[in-house]
Amino acid sequence: MKFFIDTADIAEIRKAKALGILDGVTTNPSLVAKTGRKYVEVLTEIAKEVDGPVSAEVIATECDGIVKEGRELSKIGPNINIKVPLIEEGLKAVKILSDEGLKTNVTLCFNSVQALMAAKAGATFISPFVGRLDDISADGMEVVEEIVAIYDNYGYDTEVIVASIRNPLHIKHAALIGAHIATIPFSVFQGIIKHPLTDNGLAKFLSDYQKIPK
Ligand code: G3P
Repeated sequence: MKFFIDTADIAEIRKAKALGILDGVTTNPSLVAKTGRKYVEVLTEIAKEVDGPVSAEVIATECDGIVKEGRELSKIGPNINIKVPLIEEGLKAVKILSDEGLKTNVTLCFNSVQALMAAKAGATFISPFVGRLDDISADGMEVVEEIVAIYDNYGYDTEVIVASIRNPLHIKHAALIGAHIATIPFSVFQGIIKHPLTDNGLAKFLSDYQKIPK
């Protein structure tokens, strides 16, 4: 399973990278806005910092504009994939961009049939937003389960990025379902390593070691 970090904050990306288990980065306009910095400047810095895929989202909502913007964003670096919204114009653009050999991440996916359409258009990645579904009392992980089954049924290469992750349980369920990737906010990244019993156990081992005759 691959772990991406869902942030545009370069300090967070560096800390996650230092753990040695970071496979890529996803961003969106809301995350870049939090940095207070220029859009392309932030994406360029991130693309240089990490070796794996970096999702850069388009702002255009019509096919021609998405394709034009996607081509421009792809010039930032070879690891950039173009994040496109799951709308009709977006899927038309994904088909054109994927036929040109550019990688895409189709975002704002909320059901498995939308995900099937994205795979048919040639999406490299699909991003179902589990947390936002859970927020409205739907079942985000059920959608992920359906997408993984449908892609397996037909042998689609599109990789599933479980997005809008809110807690470690989302990661556990994504892994059990066999989703390819979890894109994790920094706060959750920190939480998945820590366990109070690990900390207490370690403290006891270290204090008992002091009792051993030297
Ligand atoms: O990258 C998009 C996605 O992960 C958004 O998450 O927390 O804004 O629902 P959230």
